Amino acid sequence: DFVPTRDDKFSFGLWTVGWQGVDVFGGAVRPPLDPAEAVHRLSDLGAYGMTFHDNDVFPFDADAAEKERHLGPLRKALTETGLKIPMITTNLFSHPVFRDGGFTNNDRDVRRFALAKTAENLDLAAELGATTFVAWGGREGAESGAAKDVKAALDRYKEAFDILGQYVLDQGYDIRFAIEPKPNEPRGDILLPTIGHALAFINELEHPELVGLNPEVGHEEMAGVNYAAGIAQALWHGKLFHIDLNGQNGPRFDQDLRFGAGNARGAFWTVDVVEHTSGKAGKYDGPRHFDFKPPRTEDMDGVWASAAGCMRNYLILQQKVRAFRADPAVQEALKAARVDQLAVPTVGEGETLADVRAEAHDPEAMAARGMAFEALDQLALDHLYGVA
Ligand code: GCO
Ligand code: MN
Ligand code: MN
Ligand code: MN
Repeated sequence: DFVPTRDDKFSFGLWTVGWQGVDVFGGAVRPPLDPAEAVHRLSDLGAYGMTFHDNDVFPFDADAAEKERHLGPLRKALTETGLKIPMITTNLFSHPVFRDGGFTNNDRDVRRFALAKTAENLDLAAELGATTFVAWGGREGAESGAAKDVKAALDRYKEAFDILGQYVLDQGYDIRFAIEPKPNEPRGDILLPTIGHALAFINELEHPELVGLNPEVGHEEMAGVNYAAGIAQALWHGKLFHIDLNGQNGPRFDQDLRFGAGNARGAFWTVDVVEHTSGKAGKYDGPRHFDFKPPRTEDMDGVWASAAGCMRNYLILQQKVRAFRADPAVQEALKAARVDQLAVPTVGEGETLADVRAEAHDPEAMAARGMAFEALDQLALDHLYGVA
């Protein structure tokens, strides 16, 4: 049971299992992970895809020949295993040149370099068959007020997506962009800090249809908001292009725990939304992508145990939410909670607001009716805790 297969569409960032444990307080605790080995290990564990930043695979200053020296063995491993590269992203945050970000750096030269670096990576994405291009603007932001003119920075952010979107169209690439919001870390305040900010930003773009979201569990929880509700809204807008699954315990530093560790109740509802949302919102059918960090307590065995745990926890929760939805007691409780009524338009077909106003309303009688939500939620917890 709970053995992942490719049909489950699990994918991992190369930088997750490849994280050597370097943090603000200490250096590497693990050896570098060869990308080709990562492909084989992830494939053996049951994943269907791997994702990466350009500089996870080849160094920042690599010329064409050196890039090929790194990409060659990766391509070979992909052919050997059948593992996919569904998503690629650009590192616009590690090199000192990006100290003030890429697309919104105050320094125009840096912005032009960031555009060129990203366009080159789009060519690689197209070549490897990646259809999603994630844009995490971790260094786009500031620590102080006067240093960043937020309105001008948003002009430049829009300019970048407009130019890169046009490039994708001109090249005929089958690629969409997915913005990944995050409130802070590494910058004190990051631009587009939450799902909501990013959704509003997308509306201002020249090609909004090319741009959606890659929300991460931990990032929304750092902002103190509900991830499951956030991705439900992104779906409602037709903008859930990709997801970063991991674990977080409330608003503190970006923990990147394996999925299912951290806020377990939040994880239950996350899987419920990913597996079940329908109606206008449709259903998410992209990769179940893990962006976690195996804690630096672990050696490489611990890394693979942690990666396997992400998928195992997803499958456990998937079984639990399915059982929850199929439970006759739950269906009754949903009715008692009037969840079905919310799907019915408030003003019926052929009716007008005047009809509603002319109707006799009895607020006292309505006010007397409890919502029966606690019984419903307890059934969910019974399923989550394994006693249903
Ligand atoms: C973070 C982010 C990153 C991005 C990655 C891909 O908090 O560091 O989650 O891991 O997801 O750069 O864009
Ligand atoms: Mn994170
Ligand atoms: Mn992260
Ligand atoms: Mn992420």
